[in-house]
Amino acid sequence: MGNEKRPDQDRPLRQLDTPRRRRNALRDRGLLAPEDRAALAECPGAWNRVADGLIENAIGVFPVPLGVAENFVIDGRPTPVVMATEERTVVAAASKAAKLCLPSGFATTAAAQRRARAQILWTGVSDSHTLINCIRSLESSCRKALLKRHPELGRHGRTLLALRPYRPDGSRDDMMVVELEIDPGESMGAGTATRMAELVGDMLERLVGRRRTAAIVTNHGEATDAVQAAAVWPRTALPAHAALRISELNHWAACDQSRLATHLKGILNGVSAVALATGQDTRAVEAAVHSAAHRPYGIDQLTRYSVLPDGSLSGHISLPLPVGVRGGATAHPVAVACRDLMGTPDRSRLAAVMAAAGLAQNFAALLCLATDGITAARAKLAVR
Ligand code: MEV
Repeated sequence: MGNEKRPDQDRPLRQLDTPRRRRNALRDRGLLAPEDRAALAECPGAWNRVADGLIENAIGVFPVPLGVAENFVIDGRPTPVVMATEERTVVAAASKAAKLCLPSGFATTAAAQRRARAQILWTGVSDSHTLINCIRSLESSCRKALLKRHPELGRHGRTLLALRPYRPDGSRDDMMVVELEIDPGESMGAGTATRMAELVGDMLERLVGRRRTAAIVTNHGEATDAVQAAAVWPRTALPAHAALRISELNHWAACDQSRLATHLKGILNGVSAVALATGQDTRAVEAAVHSAAHRPYGIDQLTRYSVLPDGSLSGHISLPLPVGVRGGATAHPVAVACRDLMGTPDRSRLAAVMAAAGLAQNFAALLCLATDGITAARAKLAVR
């Protein structure tokens, strides 16, 4: 072909209809070396098609290792915990933590996960106080009108639960926010919450006298019901002094922001790995967990440990986990397979499994810090 241009070479990637054509176009532009193109082409065509259905300009898929953490008994049920992670020690650490608390395993709250929130912002509002009272009085009629006008929003158990108008602390006088609380059914709810906020924004427009400035889901941890998981590690399963040291390390995270960030990262090593494997929005989960720990009044402890009179260690975690089993990437065939392997959990059970994985991961990290340290643990794994 010599210096002749190929037809796809200068076309925007979005105009090319397959990852293969996009890879070839990048090659023809001199941006993709032959070996890199070959690496991207390695994944079978079916995955390329899935990728193409999920995002724009897909050129392939990124294969993250998928592993199964064993030994998890959650609410009496043996449960393989599937994790997608590139971090070497995560699956092994979770399996070890779960093994050490056998035979009782993890107890979780199976409370239905049924909440998401979105916000509508108005600026340029002249009398926010009167408007806030007025919207409060209209709450019930507004809820009914929304589902009457948009019955599709009521499908799959979704509903608008509440409307809360307020002025954020410290905001300008002309600002007003209306927060919606919704039940998203079995989906994580970000799309539904945002859509409902846009529609409620449209409905309130005439009353407020202005077009809304923005409408969007909130990823704050408070917007989601917290999931609890607990376990007891018997004294006989722990090295000497480990129980006390783990509770001291937990206290450290509760009073030192620098340590807290790493403590949360350790929890999320477990939670995000299950989230990614099961088709969740990992960033939403992480935003919720971080915001639940960093509160305006200080640190809110998400994990608690206490040494029991017989020397065993009781651990507890409370996490907001905005997850779903419908919508978004949850229909990805790998995510479906991972959830099936975990017993095809509903939204609440999936959140419970993720909370148990978060507690296990945190316990494993603290046990490691309290004993040989992380470098020694990694070295042990490396020689296997
Ligand atoms: C490493 O990925 C996570 C840890 O640093 C967590 C922690 O320190 O608690 C081990």
